[in-house]
Amino acid sequence: MSTEFEPKILAFVCNWCTYAGADLTGTSRIKYASNVKIVRFPCTGRIDFMLLLKAFANGSDGVIVSGCHPNDCHYTSGNFHARRRWMLFRGLLDFLGVDVRRIQFSWVSAAEGAKWAEVVNKTVADVRALGPYAEYKKAAKFLAGNEDVLLKAQEVAL
Ligand code: FES
Repeated sequence: MSTEFEPKILAFVCNWCTYAGADLTGTSRIKYASNVKIVRFPCTGRIDFMLLLKAFANGSDGVIVSGCHPNDCHYTSGNFHARRRWMLFRGLLDFLGVDVRRIQFSWVSAAEGAKWAEVVNKTVADVRALGPYAEYKKAAKFLAGNEDVLLKAQEVAL
């Protein structure tokens, strides 16, 4: 029996591109790591800082955020909002002690089943090398006491 650490990865994906790309990965029978659980959003424009923190607080070792390529968003600019938020989140997450290498931000279209497999495999390998995310309890404690403040800070920053 193997005792190798198996990371738990949560993927926030948009319905129109990456979710369809992930589906194509399956229908094309491309093998990839089974460590990922997908949460489907209408658009990556929905992603916010609290969702990332809650993923870690609830036991994820890594997170993927993936949507349509620039200029392909079905809601015009949701992926640009997501990218802008990601630039802000990085600093906040770093401040909170979350290693940003645990978060993969990518664009995967509905035709890129092979790319989805690559993104998942790379994220799993990177997070496996980092080890389990033992700090998640710290994030959970922080969340419990500061959710309102964090949401207000995010609104102001955006
Ligand atoms: Fe895919 Fe907006 S619809 S990122």
